[in-house]
Amino acid sequence: YKPVVVAVDGPAGSGKSSVSRAAAKALGFDYQDTGAAYRAFALHAVQQNVDLDDPAAVVKTLPTFAYEIGIDPDDHYVRVDGVDVTDEIRTPRVTASVAHVAKLPEVRHYLVDLFRGIIAGTSKPGIVTEGRDITTVVAPNAQVRILLTASEEARMARRSAEITGQSAEETARQLSKRDQQDSKVVDFMTAAEGVTTLDSTNLDFDQTVQAVVELVRSIA
Ligand code: C5P
Repeated sequence: YKPVVVAVDGPAGSGKSSVSRAAAKALGFDYQDTGAAYRAFALHAVQQNVDLDDPAAVVKTLPTFAYEIGIDPDDHYVRVDGVDVTDEIRTPRVTASVAHVAKLPEVRHYLVDLFRGIIAGTSKPGIVTEGRDITTVVAPNAQVRILLTASEEARMARRSAEITGQSAEETARQLSKRDQQDSKVVDFMTAAEGVTTLDSTNLDFDQTVQAVVELVRSIA
């Protein structure tokens, strides 16, 4: 039999990482966070001292990108060169630099191959993979494809509850800047054909996880 592939896309602050991980856990599936790879690669490029505005220099560091991710939802970690960077890739410095590398087609092709390899390698009955272009580019043939949305207001509120030490205004400013940059690269605001839109604006966390789990159970 073939493992069930669940593709989840959505904007920053939609809750897709935490929802996807909890849904994977409930289903007994693996969980892949693709944003973590873009973040880890941005960190790697910075560590190689390359100018992020020099695409050729950034692309040159791809072959030495030694990336490891824990896809068990109970054991999620990210390592670069054997060093645990799970927390470091969430710092505002890394978050602000990801767009510079994520917009490069060579980087995207390289990472898309890597993501497909991880999906193919799951030993569980399925894998939930989450990002911006999973339903459209990485796994367009996934049995379950979901666009997780929420109103801008709800997304800002969730993000500022997550981030401490900066004002709600600053968080909102960063989030809309990132949405704007990201939407130039991939369209994650409108559902492609065959993709189910799940609007979590009026759902709490558990209800959103439950909705994903039910979608998977109804299809797979
Ligand atoms: O999901 P997360 O916020 O961690 O993603 C970090 C960044 O990685 C996004 O802002 C985007 O630039 C990039 N990304 C992407 N395609 C994906 C996942 C993430 O371009 N599938």
